[in-house]
Amino acid sequence: MIYKWRQKLHIEPPTGWLNDPNGLCFFDGRYHVFFQYSPDSATGNSPRGWGHYESSDLLSWNFKGESILPDTAYDCDGAYSGSAVVYDGRLHIFYTGNVNTPENHANVIHICCEHADDMGGKKVILSPEDYPDFVTSQVRDPKVWVEDGKWKMVLGAQTVNNGGCVLLYEGDSPDSFRFVKSLSHEGMGYMWECPDIFELDGNTYMTVSPQGIGHEEYRYQNTFSSGYFRIKGDGLSDYCELDCGFDFYAPQSFEAPDGRRILIGWMGMGDANYWNKTVESGYQHCLTLPRELTVAGDGALLQNPVRELKQLRGNAEVVGEDKWARLPFEVEAVRSGEGEIIMTIGGAKFESFDDGHCELSFTDEQTGASRSVRKAKTGRVDDVRMIVDTSGIEIYINGGRYVMSTRFYPEYRELKVTAQGATSVLYGLAFHDTLVSIGEALIDFIPNKTGCEFCEVDSFAPAVGGAPANVCAAFTRLGGKSRMITQLGNDPFGEVITGKLNEIGVDTSYVTYTDEANTALAFVSLKADGDRVFSFYRKPSADMLYEPYMLSPYMFDDCYALHFCSVSLGDFPMKKAHKAAITLASSHGAIISFDPNLRLMLWDSADKLTSAVLEFLPECDILKVSEEELEFITGSSDISTAIPTLFAGRVKLVICTCGGKGAYVVNAGGTAFSPAVPVEAVDTTGAGDGFIGAFLWRLKSNGIGRKDLSSVSSRILKDCADFANRFCSISVRRNGAIPSYPTYGEMQNPDGGKN
Ligand code: FRU
Repeated sequence: MIYKWRQKLHIEPPTGWLNDPNGLCFFDGRYHVFFQYSPDSATGNSPRGWGHYESSDLLSWNFKGESILPDTAYDCDGAYSGSAVVYDGRLHIFYTGNVNTPENHANVIHICCEHADDMGGKKVILSPEDYPDFVTSQVRDPKVWVEDGKWKMVLGAQTVNNGGCVLLYEGDSPDSFRFVKSLSHEGMGYMWECPDIFELDGNTYMTVSPQGIGHEEYRYQNTFSSGYFRIKGDGLSDYCELDCGFDFYAPQSFEAPDGRRILIGWMGMGDANYWNKTVESGYQHCLTLPRELTVAGDGALLQNPVRELKQLRGNAEVVGEDKWARLPFEVEAVRSGEGEIIMTIGGAKFESFDDGHCELSFTDEQTGASRSVRKAKTGRVDDVRMIVDTSGIEIYINGGRYVMSTRFYPEYRELKVTAQGATSVLYGLAFHDTLVSIGEALIDFIPNKTGCEFCEVDSFAPAVGGAPANVCAAFTRLGGKSRMITQLGNDPFGEVITGKLNEIGVDTSYVTYTDEANTALAFVSLKADGDRVFSFYRKPSADMLYEPYMLSPYMFDDCYALHFCSVSLGDFPMKKAHKAAITLASSHGAIISFDPNLRLMLWDSADKLTSAVLEFLPECDILKVSEEELEFITGSSDISTAIPTLFAGRVKLVICTCGGKGAYVVNAGGTAFSPAVPVEAVDTTGAGDGFIGAFLWRLKSNGIGRKDLSSVSSRILKDCADFANRFCSISVRRNGAIPSYPTYGEMQNPDGGKN
């Protein structure tokens, strides 16, 4: 899996194929983006349904999984594009149920649901008999809205004369629509897909994606186009393209709770003769950034990235002769004289010409992945804003009147930025949403029988583990981003670990490999009294030889929290790397989280372990201990007196887990207690790691950062601990550590998500 092209700002599928945005809405306190999704095929060759992302801020998106599946007789060949309406506290979804008969057969299906991740009850509300005679069987992509108490729908279609058109329907309820009229425009292609109609500033706009418009030098250069008309009575204004880059199609819009009209497009192109390098990594395509639409004095639509994006900006830096910028970033340029503006971003070049056109070009195959040049007639260019993500660039020209969106594939994460003819300012864009763990990732060998002495076990099965790696896995299973920093041996076990972590979605791109030592192994047996016996193979192991110089500041520029344990704090290079990582992560404002996770047998003496723990304890913001560890560290088993003694140095929050009883969470503001969920445990391996991983994930979802840790209310702390307890109650009913961790979706499942 190659992670270097994973977008940071744009919505991508975890695996498989994505195309059109669908069902955009704000519902139940969150933004929802659904999309056309084939999870099993990066080239879109498996049945297509809807995938689902959710966000509270339009910036950071959580993948919620597959949503609508093509699983009925009415949508068996695809749950194709459609839209959402929030009405009376419910979510109404309308989509195209595609059935491949010799003639294409497309139904409009309605789903009414209480929750965005609970799509049931499909009802066909329009089928081919309901479409007027002047259209072919090519009818799809319902966009529905409610206006003056009426339900309104627009569908994309093709006329029998081979022209694109839309069909307008109306009804008194979400499942009874009647045909009203159609709209079309001479010479605008043979089929119109994905229409949308909305009002803005007293004008009515219709966006649509026409297929078959003739290519011109400055317009309609892509296989298919997307643009808008103004609707005036029964007529349509001239068509205006929404985006002149290589990758833009099928945009849809919705109204945010604050009244903004927000548009999102597919940052891809059907039937294009250029390709995307991520296919090699098993996924393809992304959506554009959410864009705010506003209206210019002459009625033209202006598009600009949602204002929330500015929250990600770091310090402003002036772009001089030779500026290097770390992806993702943005550049804002304002004309400084009369000449042409020329800006380069790695191998991408944007140039404005005196004759009032501009060009976006890519210098070589490496960056362009066979994209060469796109042109636009913009008139004089006065300002340019470029948002450059890991493998895509969006260029907003003249206040968003023109936009060019294109995927590109830079080999390196730092790009040289230059600007001529403009005063340019560069901002790094960074999320602080990634959990970074440093320390050991190893293979646990699990005995085939328990309740016996170590020597009585006759076979062991390998499982990827190591506490810091488990914590990453828990965080990522819940939909968060995580990154593992460790060293593995150049050996098959190292490959197994990387493979497993990648499969779950943990970023392993910074893991290093060595010939000096092997990947760490740990054999475990479980005696009759429940005691675990470990036999570690790390004398030394590859992780212990990780050196501070192997770290880079880039590992932390999106860091939400850095997590570590004590196994790597012995007298070897990895200990120094921990110190350096703490310094780097702290300088990025990250939370430092420490779970001592004591393994006495790895130490020459208990004193050495204690002194290592006490050396690192004052360096952390969050300390998680078990009851036994509390006693080991403080010498006292009395929770109420022992916990306060742990608030040394920068410690702001202490979590004490008490096995089957529950967990205490203490900060300066108070104490929260969360009782454990009573369950029949079958395997507690990795439960503590799961707890802290889930706790950190929930803390982040509650919007809590380092500066809030001392003041965050006991109510929120209890919410986080309750969530982590629920996570563990599912994990301990399943075998293993990583394989036992539930996803967020499984946690919503009221049966507790057994197996
Ligand atoms: C546009 C489109 C839609 C259709 C969907 C299928 O890209 O062709 O018309 O509903 O994709 O994925």
